[in-house]
Amino acid sequence: MTALKNDRFLRALLREPVDTTPVWMMRQAGRYLPEYRETRAKAGDFLSLCKNTEFACEVTLQPLRRYELDAAILFSDILTVPDALGLGLYFEAGEGPKFHKTVRTEQDVANLPNFNAKSDLDYVMNAVSTIRSALGGQVPLIGFSGSPWTLATYMVEGGSSKDFRFTKQMMYAQPEVLHALLDRLAVAVIDYLNAQIDAGAQAVQIFDSWGGALAHREYIEFSLNYMQKIVAGLQREKDGRKIPVILFTKGGGQWLEPMVATGADAFGLDWTTPLNVARQTVNGRAALQGNLDPATLYGSPDSIAKATKAMLDDAYAHGEKTGYIANLGHGITQWVDPANPKVFIDTVHEYSAKYL
Ligand code: CP3
Repeated sequence: MTALKNDRFLRALLREPVDTTPVWMMRQAGRYLPEYRETRAKAGDFLSLCKNTEFACEVTLQPLRRYELDAAILFSDILTVPDALGLGLYFEAGEGPKFHKTVRTEQDVANLPNFNAKSDLDYVMNAVSTIRSALGGQVPLIGFSGSPWTLATYMVEGGSSKDFRFTKQMMYAQPEVLHALLDRLAVAVIDYLNAQIDAGAQAVQIFDSWGGALAHREYIEFSLNYMQKIVAGLQREKDGRKIPVILFTKGGGQWLEPMVATGADAFGLDWTTPLNVARQTVNGRAALQGNLDPATLYGSPDSIAKATKAMLDDAYAHGEKTGYIANLGHGITQWVDPANPKVFIDTVHEYSAKYL
């Protein structure tokens, strides 16, 4: 394996000393980049882009050509797992993801087919190994999955949702059915992430995009417990290097204390949580990642630099020297001017050095 030239992302996740703050952006490969839109047009549609190794590799590398990012993230989607479980994923223009089938009954859960990540999602593993070698050790590669709860919401609703009506109905009326589904998904996600690690992913992130929609007890019971199970089932070391795991519950900043107990290395935060307070709560037991409001990137270069510096001041407010990765608090949107992320990324590298 080629030696890693820039490992500050992995070092910060493990709370080892760093020269400057590492930074990447959720959804960094996406529609705000004209070159992404061009490659997607060549592929035909989003899913074909994910399934074509060469195109998936190309779009993963695109943001790294424009910006001094400290990590690459596999180009794929969290919904490949329910697709492989036979639900039939498709995207309708302007409407987000949809499934041909839903999972709403005990029978539906029992009928889910066996899942083997390496054979059922071989296109993802091919993308991981191809991207890893194309990176040539420039920066580490992040693998990812959805959390069982977040995947379950799409499977039960049949697509995106605002109120999670059917999933919450299942949760309160037939909790054992939801638990059976979440259990199946946790087992699948462990297999999926371990297969990505085998194929070359050097860190993994679990996206719990909808954990924040749960009441506090239900968050522990229906989301965090299953992420904990996943953390316990992951391969945490490969080729003599630790494989850090990041949990990101959007809207979950108030649950950092129970999150730390999962044993994950790092936690992602959205922009509603003050980083200085979060750092105090975690108190050196884990690293934190985040949390600039993605809408900040609609501003001017000056306002972006100012907001980025304020975030860094918060991140190092108590004299910390590491354990922090700069990021947005959620994915970058398609309406961002591609000139603006550079201001965010360069400000992180230049301004943070004074704290380290
Ligand atoms: O971060 C990256 O650059 C890696 C790629 C990545 C995508 N999706 C590409 C994508 C990752 C990590 C995801 C995760 C994902 N997918 C999540 C969790 C993260 C989050 O945002 O909370 C979720 C909930 C999904 C499901 C999903 N996929 C939705 C809701 C959509 C539609 C979004 C929209 O605005 O229409 C997608 C499609 C998708 N996944 C796109 C990209 C770049 C846009 C599709 C396109 O090119 O048209």
